[in-house]
Amino acid sequence: MNLPAFIERRRSIRSFRPGAVDRQLLDRLVEAACLAPAPHHSRPWRFVVIDSDRGKTALAQGMGERWRADLTGDGIAAARIDELVQSSHTMLTAAPALVLACLTWDGLDRYPDEARQRAEWGMALLSLGAAVENLMLSAADAGLASCWVAAPIFCPEAARDALALPDDWLPHALVLVGYPDPAYVARERPPVPLDTLRVNR
Ligand SMILES: Cc1cc2nc3c(=O)[nH]c(=O)nc-3n(C[C@H](O)[C@H](O)[C@H](O)COP(=O)(O)O)c2cc1C
Repeated sequence: MNLPAFIERRRSIRSFRPGAVDRQLLDRLVEAACLAPAPHHSRPWRFVVIDSDRGKTALAQGMGERWRADLTGDGIAAARIDELVQSSHTMLTAAPALVLACLTWDGLDRYPDEARQRAEWGMALLSLGAAVENLMLSAADAGLASCWVAAPIFCPEAARDALALPDDWLPHALVLVGYPDPAYVARERPPVPLDTLRVNR
């Protein structure tokens, strides 16, 4: 398959058939992630591969508590909060494996002013997105399904502490990984509206 067709074939799959993913295969995905472009030859990422029930539950619970507090602060009804938090917990614990992508300042430049400091962190964040795409494309190539889950970016400290990670590892992206549930139907993907998304000069 040519590359554009392959890229098009990767879809977010949120349901998996039971069965573990071999740890060596998960390591290959992380290695592919680490080949992403990054600012000034840094590798400001750390990856946590979580395939134990204990790890998945700890992460789901830690982030769930934080989300519950946020939703309560938003004034959402208690029953709705229970529903949302439970559904997120189920999604995370039902996935055969989770890969948590963290950012660290290790290898990044420091600036005395806030604006450049923020730009440096922004570059690291962009590179993390490239790393996650590498990981998901490599998963697709291996016949695996994956889905990026945003949750940790809203509660990096809660995700870090739930897994007892080092203080300077800040979780920013979570990827569910497993063999696809054959019954899962990917959501509709509208055609790319090139004339809206692109201009020529
Ligand atoms: C930064 C980011 C955060 C996302 N967060 C979630 C999420 O929390 N839950 C979810 O089901 N999908 C999540 N997705 C997946 C998107 O919904 C999905 O990529 C998009 O709908 C396009 O579908 P496709 O990946 O099948 O092309 C996320 C994607 C990105 C890039």
